[in-house]
Amino acid sequence: MPKDSLTITDNRTGKTYEIPIENGCIRTDALRQIKVDEKDFGLMGYDPAFLNTANTKSAITFIDGDRGILEYRGYPIEQLAEKSTFLEVAYLLLNGELPTKEELDEFTHTITHHTYVHENVKRFMEGFRYDAHPMSMVASTVAALSAFYPEAKNIKDAKIRRIQMMRLIAKMPTIAAFAYRHSVGQPYVYPDNELSYVGNFLAMLKKIGTNTYKPHPVLERALDVLFILHADHEQNCSTTSVRTVGSSQVDPYSAVSAGVDALYGPLHGGANEAVLRMLREIGHVSKVPEFIAKVKSGEAGSRLMGFGHRVYKSYDPRAKVIKRIADEVFEVTGKNPLLDIALELERIALSDDYFVKRKLYPNVDFYSGLIYEAMGFSADFFTVLFAIPRTVGWVAQWEEMVLDPEQKIARPRQIYIGPKRRDFVPLEQRKK
Ligand code: SDX
Repeated sequence: MPKDSLTITDNRTGKTYEIPIENGCIRTDALRQIKVDEKDFGLMGYDPAFLNTANTKSAITFIDGDRGILEYRGYPIEQLAEKSTFLEVAYLLLNGELPTKEELDEFTHTITHHTYVHENVKRFMEGFRYDAHPMSMVASTVAALSAFYPEAKNIKDAKIRRIQMMRLIAKMPTIAAFAYRHSVGQPYVYPDNELSYVGNFLAMLKKIGTNTYKPHPVLERALDVLFILHADHEQNCSTTSVRTVGSSQVDPYSAVSAGVDALYGPLHGGANEAVLRMLREIGHVSKVPEFIAKVKSGEAGSRLMGFGHRVYKSYDPRAKVIKRIADEVFEVTGKNPLLDIALELERIALSDDYFVKRKLYPNVDFYSGLIYEAMGFSADFFTVLFAIPRTVGWVAQWEEMVLDPEQKIARPRQIYIGPKRRDFVPLEQRKK
């Protein structure tokens, strides 16, 4: 078996170098030794948007994009979606093992007793206009939490680190619910410690006055499973943002607010909201072929939202589970009329060479919005429903970065393509 190494010959000098291969990678700093002369900085790797660059080792989530595999700490997502609960999966992602009953009870107690936010957070949120997008409200409120917990800066202290992580997981539903209630002009509903994580969230969204609110068990379980599916996804755009911002050793609230901002984008977590807008724009099953033709023509801005993925080059395993949940939810809420358009879009796209050649399949966002809408959420709230569970992945990945001896402040290089050195020109000598 040949050695795990590359032999590189630099044709500019005729020199040969041996670069070790570890974990299917080469360390790009090993390229720095390849120079034409002593003044040469040495070779770098160039990889805009990190299409083929690993920026960390991680033990949290494994994805095999070609085989449509997603595992949290080695457990297949399909088994977790069927047999586990969101808080149990949160414990798994944070600690690496499924909890015992005592561990789960203690974890649930901790989360349940950190759902309140400081009263001033309410006043802070009241400053937004009535039509503020809830993702903007959530992102800024999460960042503001760093002002309420100054001790969070001590990220090297394990106890301090963990309590901030618990607070973030516990308070995200409260902040999200307050943002929703602000947008509909209703009074905030305080957390109810008697309810489950998802049940409490639904109550804070929907409860009116002093009536007791009992979430529908099918809808409560459906949202719990959707939270499991959205909890982590290795080094996606928002997690990379959390790791990058966190690498400056800022507190976790500031780092996670960067993740919320990244998730807001329509190419990332904002896609579920964009899918509903796209289905509405299509309007009827008969219009699907015309829309597909527009997408294939590459007409500005017409992408098949909810399709495609940087890693999955086959069906997103989460989309399969979501499709099953959709049937269960529609049993209770009635079928979302946009579902037929979505199914027809999928049917055509999966057989059309344009999409097959580009390995474009439905991703996690293609069907989730249909379920959220059927459950009564408005489209601008869909990405908030993504941010709540993904907070678990963000804090788990953040802590892994903090504890990783190989990590330091993220500071990539660049290829400079600007003007060569030139002298300053006094104002009166400048020509148009
Ligand atoms: C999420 O990273 C994660 O893990 C993210 C996520 C998570 O859990 O964190 O899984 C959540 O963000 C899911 C993705 C949600 N986004 C969307 O559904 C938006 C629509 N999809 C895309 O814009 C796109 O597919 C991306 C952004 C998801 C991936 O883009 P890439 O990997 O940068 O691929 P690309 O843009 O280079 O596209 C490759 C080709 C291009 O065609 P050509 O230039 O070769 O002709 O495929 C085409 C693209 O034009 N293409 C699409 C398309 N996605 C890619 N064409 C039509 N419709 C699409 N959706």
